[in-house]
Amino acid sequence: MTINCKQLIYGIISFVPGFKGRRPLMTGGTDSAEYCYSVWLRHLVLGFRNKLCSKVPEVVAEFGPGDSIGIGLAALISGASRYIGLDVVEHSTLTKNAEIFDEIIELFKRKAPIPHGPEFDLVKPGLDSYHFPSEILTDAHMAKALSDERLKHIRKSILSMNRPGSIIQYVVPWTDADPLPSNSVDMIYSQAVMEYCTILPEAYHKMREWLKPDGFMSHQIDFKSHGTFDAWDGHWACSDLKWRLMRGKRPYFICRSTHSEHIEAIRDAGFKIILDLKSILPPTIAPGELNPRYRPLDPQDLTIAGAFVQARRL
Ligand SMILES: C[S@@+](CC[C@H](N)C(=O)[O-])C[C@H]1O[C@@H](n2cnc3c(N)ncnc32)[C@H](O)[C@@H]1O
Repeated sequence: MTINCKQLIYGIISFVPGFKGRRPLMTGGTDSAEYCYSVWLRHLVLGFRNKLCSKVPEVVAEFGPGDSIGIGLAALISGASRYIGLDVVEHSTLTKNAEIFDEIIELFKRKAPIPHGPEFDLVKPGLDSYHFPSEILTDAHMAKALSDERLKHIRKSILSMNRPGSIIQYVVPWTDADPLPSNSVDMIYSQAVMEYCTILPEAYHKMREWLKPDGFMSHQIDFKSHGTFDAWDGHWACSDLKWRLMRGKRPYFICRSTHSEHIEAIRDAGFKIILDLKSILPPTIAPGELNPRYRPLDPQDLTIAGAFVQARRL
């Protein structure tokens, strides 16, 4: 198992006063319209299949939208009436959001299949079928959803985000604000975000508080080492000191949580888990090499490289 020296050096340098770091800080997928469309439809299709919703949820909130709020725009275009993006760093820009909006509309207009295949191999969760979900987004539903008037309203809301009358809110950092009233959201989702969250129990408790009584959440969580080590599970062997150095003063960094920690925090916060779709990888770290914190864990826990979790508010 080899540490990624570049990441370690970057972390150490970040302690130097005045260090600004890489700008802009790119996050990954949401600068692509296909990615946003694909991720939204995957969460939606599985929400339907698991009977967590029987129509497009009205008020949707997203943790960690990243480079654009495109997944949320896909939700709005498909019929949601309000979107709240909650991040810890302001990544998304007006220009990017406006560009991606037009591209996502085109995908819905031509009922494009849910993007998958080699370019999307790393995107989870996987589905049995990637056809456009016409059984959910029927022709009649999409005719209304794609009406000129509705699209104009969403476009106006992108331009006037966070202002009165806009159906789009983007709250950064959400942890400093009290962004949402209790019982106000139908669906909360995230894609490749919850592994960064250092305040897991608090975050899941907040989600429980914001969701309406019949609300649900949908999270794709990646437990891998995110390039900090050559081994996918190398981060669980790293000493706490080395990890603190590697993390440095980055605004966010994976917090090395395991699947069982998330499941416990989700249940403790007052959710019933409806789907827990795990991706399993063989461990590469011998039990004796693990950071002592991870040694008492069930060895099965350390084979779970990712999970798609959907849970209903109790
Ligand atoms: C790997 S990016 C994923 C972005 C996007 N969801 C995607 O699928 O491309 C992680 C995102 O999570 C955000 N993030 C990190 N910690 C967070 C937290 N505690 N709460 C909300 N967002 C967080 C980051 O700022 C970043 O936007």
